[in-house]
Amino acid sequence: TYTQDDPFINAMTDKLKSQLKIMENSNMKVIVSVRNGDNDQREQDEIVAEMIDAGCDVLCVNLVDRTAPANIIKVARQNDIPVIFFNREPVHEDLAQWDKLYYVGCDAKESGDMQGEIAAEYIKKHPEVDRNGDGKIQYVLLEGEAGHQDAISRTDCSVNTLIENGVQLEKLSYQFADWNRGQAENRMTQLISQYGDEVELVISNNDEMALGAAEAYRNSRISEDKWPAIFGIDGLDDALQAIKEGTMQGTVYNDKEDQAGEMARLAVD
Ligand code: BGC
Ligand code: CA
Repeated sequence: TYTQDDPFINAMTDKLKSQLKIMENSNMKVIVSVRNGDNDQREQDEIVAEMIDAGCDVLCVNLVDRTAPANIIKVARQNDIPVIFFNREPVHEDLAQWDKLYYVGCDAKESGDMQGEIAAEYIKKHPEVDRNGDGKIQYVLLEGEAGHQDAISRTDCSVNTLIENGVQLEKLSYQFADWNRGQAENRMTQLISQYGDEVELVISNNDEMALGAAEAYRNSRISEDKWPAIFGIDGLDDALQAIKEGTMQGTVYNDKEDQAGEMARLAVD
């Protein structure tokens, strides 16, 4: 994995382990070892080489840098070890280098479209989201990571779907927060000091950052009736809880169960 600090990736890794366990039989034991690249592609390259030396049969790689799989592909190929990349998608040219390279991930466009749809629906049902009553929704967008396929498509598709559904938007700010709750809280705290209670909608590329934004409001002087509507993506437990409590308004399920299931099936094949 690219880091040990990403709740979505950790949840998906746990699912992968349990899925593989289920697929064991009298002829086949599955031994899984998990290492993280600590946000450093070179470190991840070294870990992959060590795992190959240790005798692994299949590699599942959640790249640190999705544009830099070359070293991993090279050693895997030399040792004839298939690689299932997941969640951080190598570009087509890299995946086409060898026929034992695979990719499993979500359909980012779809999660963005769905986020736009649920946000538009919510805004129509709750006209009070437009707190200053100017007919436009002042919004900020929390972006996962520059260059991440899911961040790029989710941002585009979510905003376009809102517009297609007749919501008039006014962009206040786009901020990268590395998919991370703490970073999003910091960014949002800065935005609150800049815009006060003017933000009416927060669109976040994932739940963790949406939760960070909610936390920033909780720690601000802005009264609860002036908090924006906040939407995430992933459907992680903490977000579902926040939606029940009313600090987030919606999320889109990123099917980690099925993605882990497909990886397990592919690995065993
Ligand atoms: C998930 C994020 C996660 C990211 C990591 C995305 O698909 O929605 O929660 O942080 O992948 O690469
Ligand atoms: Ca408004």
